Amino acid sequence: MDGLNANSPHARDIRYLVHQQTELRSYREQGGTLMARGNGIHVIDESGKEYIEAMAGLWCASLGFSEKRLAEAGYQQLLDLPYYHTFFGKGHLASVDLAEKLISIAPKPMAKALFQCSGSEANDTAIKLVWYYHNAIGKPEKKKIIGRDRGYHGNTVASVSVSGQPHMRLGFDVPLPMFRHTSNPHYYRLHQDGETEEQFADRMAKDLEDLILAEGPETVAAFFGEPVQGGGGAITPPRTYWAKIQKVLKKYDVLFIADEVIAGFGRTGNMWGCETYDLQPDMISCAKALSAAYQPISALMISDKIYQALESLSATNGTFGHGFTYGAHPVACAVALETLKIYEERKIVDHVRAVGPAMLEGLGAFAEHPLVGDVRGVGLFAGVELMKDRETRTPWAPEQKVGTLVQDLALKHGLIVRAIGDRIAFTPPLIITEPQIGEMCRRFGLALDEARSELGA
Ligand SMILES: Cc1ncc(COP(=O)(O)O)c(C=O)c1O
Repeated sequence: MDGLNANSPHARDIRYLVHQQTELRSYREQGGTLMARGNGIHVIDESGKEYIEAMAGLWCASLGFSEKRLAEAGYQQLLDLPYYHTFFGKGHLASVDLAEKLISIAPKPMAKALFQCSGSEANDTAIKLVWYYHNAIGKPEKKKIIGRDRGYHGNTVASVSVSGQPHMRLGFDVPLPMFRHTSNPHYYRLHQDGETEEQFADRMAKDLEDLILAEGPETVAAFFGEPVQGGGGAITPPRTYWAKIQKVLKKYDVLFIADEVIAGFGRTGNMWGCETYDLQPDMISCAKALSAAYQPISALMISDKIYQALESLSATNGTFGHGFTYGAHPVACAVALETLKIYEERKIVDHVRAVGPAMLEGLGAFAEHPLVGDVRGVGLFAGVELMKDRETRTPWAPEQKVGTLVQDLALKHGLIVRAIGDRIAFTPPLIITEPQIGEMCRRFGLALDEARSELGA
């Protein structure tokens, strides 16, 4: 970037850091925004400018950016036992406490938890366990895994393979061969003219059934789905979608892994997305708000049926040959435990139910804006779809990058949102208040109006 002091944070950033999910050449030429501090739902950049973080970072900083109790919980654990592992018959107290707590609040009966450092690793572990399970029960041919178009399950080789994000495949030689993908339940974009939500959900279930039959049910092991889709575009499914999908999975004996990495811990107005949509998974992955994002930690919870199979094959093999050095890290476990305590003490789910409608109404008011086609959400999770023509559902030309334009204008007005194509996602910290929601919507309105003038729309 021209004109920068060579020792400025921006210059050193460009010199030394590879940014993630970023176009690297433009970044080198233009740089980005560097955050220095956090305060409640706000982050403050190195120049002192304050932003409402309406994405809670990456859908994760549920308690905002200045919760001292989490800092103290981490510090105390660093003093008591800064590191230990769960390999070779050893363990530590923080992981025991956290596993017990998680199993006690699981939305459906779960038997055990495994800990990793990220959502990707939780899903990667789930994929390995799907294969291990089928080997254990004598069905080694049942190995294919189905994800959904636009699904987002992570960045490891396996979790990106089950994801359905075209841009994350470019140049990376994924997905792996045993992964398949079925339709995405984005009703507004993908319904046929005259098709009701109910009929659309029927079609989604039929697409899944057709895929399973085409592959051969005896080869299909598992299906991964997020209760609500985040990285796919902040998409809430039609009301009956999940009941119909689960019926198909049961019919063909396909395991169901619910990816609660975004939806878990209050986001949808219940502790779990599984409760909001009545899901009956065999495994649940979660991360992000598990520790309010103050420490990198994820969990995979597994049902007793899965655990019994793992135990039996591990007895045969002489070990359960899986694990991460930093899986169940004690500092992350301690921070996660404190996070769950805060959720209970402050009745975070009740709070989301109380303020969620204000966000959906505030954003819903933009449904009539000339740039907007559709607004949908649940709890404190919403997507605003930008459309050239709402009635005919004509999108903007991709090269116009209208979503990015709105996102950049919002940033100028002190609001961080995320454009996923032309869909703008909102998942603010769960502690957001009604007045703050009002201010968030006001700033978004400024961005939309400016975008409208720029586009001459
Ligand atoms: C639903 C879902 N699953 C998994 C992941 C991957 O999590 P991580 O980035 O912690 O690996 C994400 C990340 O955004 C996600 O949204």
